Amino acid sequence: MVAINDIAVQQIPTFPLNRWYVAGFSWELKNKPLARVLLGHSVVLFRLDNGHVSALEDRCCHRSLPLSHGTLEAHGLRCGYHGLLFDGSGVCVEIPGQNKIPEKARVSTFHVREVNQIIWMWFGEEKCAEPTHEPPEYAIHDDDRYLFRGDVVHYDAPYQLIHDNLLDLSHLGYVHLQTIGGNAHIHMNAKMQVHSDGEVVRVVRHLPDSDPPPTYVAAYPFTGKVDRWQEIEFHVSHLLIWTGAVAAGTASLSDPDRDGFHMRGFHGITPESETTSHYFWTMATNPASNEEQVLAKVIEQTELTFEEDRVVIEAQYKNLVRFDSPAGVDIHVDVGANRARRLVELLRRNSLSKSN
Ligand code: FES
Ligand SMILES: [Fe+2]
Repeated sequence: MVAINDIAVQQIPTFPLNRWYVAGFSWELKNKPLARVLLGHSVVLFRLDNGHVSALEDRCCHRSLPLSHGTLEAHGLRCGYHGLLFDGSGVCVEIPGQNKIPEKARVSTFHVREVNQIIWMWFGEEKCAEPTHEPPEYAIHDDDRYLFRGDVVHYDAPYQLIHDNLLDLSHLGYVHLQTIGGNAHIHMNAKMQVHSDGEVVRVVRHLPDSDPPPTYVAAYPFTGKVDRWQEIEFHVSHLLIWTGAVAAGTASLSDPDRDGFHMRGFHGITPESETTSHYFWTMATNPASNEEQVLAKVIEQTELTFEEDRVVIEAQYKNLVRFDSPAGVDIHVDVGANRARRLVELLRRNSLSKSN
């Protein structure tokens, strides 16, 4: 007999597999289990007293209560229905009132890694498949020059629409007038370079001699025009976006050590299902003074910005469903997003052809 889960996985081969996706941030795992659906799998994440993070299928092997309803103990997660205790590897280590523990009293586990405060989970073609490589590092989270905060936002929209949005920052001129945008003419006419390198797509845009947008003025003592940059590095499970500005004419925008005001975004885009997504973000900045105040301002503005994006993307998706047709005409700003879409499609099909 084929399990319901197996049918679902075969009928929804929507995501590129054999890679790490973001499952959470370190600070989310405190003294409670955390339930999350990731790539169609119901998962419970928790941290035990030894500091290790575990991820188990969120279903007790006794009578299927989600384990996320249970309680965290020093060495395991106790089911909230009849008290079975599971260790970090999913093995039942205690059945209250019963001495013998059946061999099959265990739940599936997922491979997880915690790197630079990001919790990654491996999704392979086979359930429980061993990872073939380690997840990426993100050194900005441990770089003394930067302060950061982050959060996770739920989207009623497929992950590809969030990719599109992040790869095409021309939308800043229209969507983010009150925060990081404005200057629509400059945004739409910015020279854009797009490069592909294996499973990475890079988009670089320079906006010389611009008016600094509201967020920049609030966070940094700019007094006149600025030269702005936007560097986007797309990976299938996440994007790294470095934006910023220097006073106009004071530095080369191709100098990797340029000073000025920086906003360095980490954007983990993890599908929840075919039509819904988790957006894990952090924003790091380099305050010149008043560190906590500037950070608070940048985070406040970032949250406003991402809310503006969520409203647009969810409305876009509703319309795509309503009209039951794919997006239409391409314009010049779509080059990076289209390239990433083709890459995702290729990797998705590769996963499929190998698993069938
Ligand atoms: S359902 Fe979990 S112990 Fe019974
Ligand atoms: Fe945006």
